[in-house]
Amino acid sequence: MDVYNADLNAHSPSPSPPSDTPPDLRHVLQIDDFSDATWDALRHAAVAHRHDETRGAGTAAGTSLGLVFLNPSLRTRTSMEGAATHLGAHHTTLVPGDGSWDLEWEEGAVMDGNAPEHVKEAIGVLSRYHDALGVRVFASGIDYAADARDTLIRTIAEVASVPVVNLESAWAHPCQGLSDAALLTERFGDDLTDKKFVLSWAPHPKPLPMAVPNTALRTAARCGMDVTVARPNSHALDPDLMAEAQSMADAQGGSVAATSHQAAAVDDADVVYAKSWGGPLMYTDPEGESEARAAHADWCITEALMARTDDAAFLHCLPVRRNVVVDDAVLDSPHAAHLDQAEYRLHAQKALLEYVWGL
Ligand code: CP
Repeated sequence: MDVYNADLNAHSPSPSPPSDTPPDLRHVLQIDDFSDATWDALRHAAVAHRHDETRGAGTAAGTSLGLVFLNPSLRTRTSMEGAATHLGAHHTTLVPGDGSWDLEWEEGAVMDGNAPEHVKEAIGVLSRYHDALGVRVFASGIDYAADARDTLIRTIAEVASVPVVNLESAWAHPCQGLSDAALLTERFGDDLTDKKFVLSWAPHPKPLPMAVPNTALRTAARCGMDVTVARPNSHALDPDLMAEAQSMADAQGGSVAATSHQAAAVDDADVVYAKSWGGPLMYTDPEGESEARAAHADWCITEALMARTDDAAFLHCLPVRRNVVVDDAVLDSPHAAHLDQAEYRLHAQKALLEYVWGL
């Protein structure tokens, strides 16, 4: 039964598919692509998958999933392959440049450089072989406007003739967001209002892209939590995104705030979600960003910081650099829920594939 059909595309900012493709492709490019009803159904389905390992088994037999990774992955790749296998779907995983052709992205490119295949042909062909595509792209890290528009994953969705699932793009990681929402639902119950969620910037040797912090903010806001983004002033999140998250939280009975005082932010927190990001400064002033990042090495999540919380769950999407982002003492403590969080990727993506295929 297709439990998601009633409100299909009720919130659908994804690009319209080309005119020669079916009008009802269930692209999943960001968590906004789900209506409220679908969002709730998906997070509950993910919890149900975790507690019933036979749920949905074999229901996608005869179906095929193509996975394309233009950036490395441990969790997303393994959990998508596992979810497809559980549902009975066949899957193929490609890594362009490593066993399949490097891709050209530019419209109108004269392809006399290194890339022998254009994304139009690659995704067009894969659309003929598969019933859905999961694609991980990358952030340019140079063109802020293009990354904020999520140009690459939207290009994929425009040239595909089957549903596209964003496996992490420049600006969004909906699989991570849905998994995190499911974990929070299981941990705290259906009503997440009044739960304090702190998204804390953390140090890192490199400026990391924005997909996970953007998505963690939106996810917690959409769940109606009281969200505080703790970050140095140099690493504020995109103001439009903050405003959008505020609207989402308002609609769900939650709130959104930002502060540069990390310790005070975590007081009485129920969740501390650590993540490093480069922020707008990495686009406009990379040297300044690097200096600011180095100046805030003391933002590492410590046991002392966690002691200020209300016995909070510690979350991180992984991979995580121990004793840079977060101390061993936190990752190896009862606070740590990052492995449950990673496990939820499998359950959430089973639910996601069921949604995409209308199972
Ligand atoms: N969290 C996450 O997406 O992990 P991978 O990069 O290993 O897929």
